[in-house]
Amino acid sequence: MQRLCDRELGDVDPRVGDAIRYALLGEGKRLRALLTIGAYRAGGGTRDPIDLAASVEVVHAYSLVHDDLPCMDDDAVRRGRPAVHRAFGVQVATAAGLAMVPMAARAAFRASRALGLTVVDSGQIVRVLMQASGAGGMIGGQLLDLEAEGRQLSLEELEQVHRAKTGALIAASVRIGAMAAGAGESSVTALQQFGDALGLAFQIADDVLDVTSTTDQLGKTAGRDRALGKSTYPGILGVDGAVERARSLAYRACERLERSNLLTNALRTLAHHVVERQS
Ligand code: IPE
Ligand code: IPE
Ligand code: MG
Ligand code: MG
Ligand code: MG
Repeated sequence: MQRLCDRELGDVDPRVGDAIRYALLGEGKRLRALLTIGAYRAGGGTRDPIDLAASVEVVHAYSLVHDDLPCMDDDAVRRGRPAVHRAFGVQVATAAGLAMVPMAARAAFRASRALGLTVVDSGQIVRVLMQASGAGGMIGGQLLDLEAEGRQLSLEELEQVHRAKTGALIAASVRIGAMAAGAGESSVTALQQFGDALGLAFQIADDVLDVTSTTDQLGKTAGRDRALGKSTYPGILGVDGAVERARSLAYRACERLERSNLLTNALRTLAHHVVERQS
């Protein structure tokens, strides 16, 4: 991540550059990066996909910068520190988030080329990443999430929000790893389906932790969903029901890979972590 910052931020306005560094170097779990690396290995890749994995984390980190803005979830704390707009101001945080999107696209393209992919295949990877991040994926889901505040969504509606705002990027992390490894179409599809199920499980677990964990443990304000009037899985199914749903999705995700002989220890461990984590 440090290397990516050094490479990409040389000629950026220092105020925006500093905010981007702050967002990227904060202590996250790096789950999406680990999924890209895990899928790359499961798909038969033999090189080091770390730079490609980092490019996915740039999109994720940007989503957190904007998610915390006053016009969105209005959160003061992220990754155990002041949110980017609290540290740098709303204008700089907004600009930093926006600048991270083309930064991620450039980084994904460069990293794919460095892994030996053709220009066309590298472009496909950027396309998958940008599609998952855009209006049909993460951004679309974020808008649905905000519009639903103060309203009780049905389970089906909430699943749609969660799949879009969080699931799309997680599924893309996995898909991109498989594509970069040059995995065959059926393997890419199996890994994509693993990512789809795990992405939904991840956001269910995030909803659960908002209720069951502490601000200290999470590094972000606990209880925020209720304060904002969000619909959540524990709100609809209860904590136990939501945990059960997340576990069953993670189990099914692993089963899907097992059927295709693609379930590595690393991916099994990550799937387990998604639903059993405490932060
Ligand atoms: C938080 O994601 C935002 C959601 C999509 C729920 P993470 O829990 O992966 O955040 P970091 O990267 O570890 O900070
Ligand atoms: C965020 O969901 C999804 C994103 C695309 C960032 P949340 O709003 O639940 O994430 P947290 O709980 O603030 O990390
Ligand atoms: Mg949000
Ligand atoms: Mg939020
Ligand atoms: Mg949350």
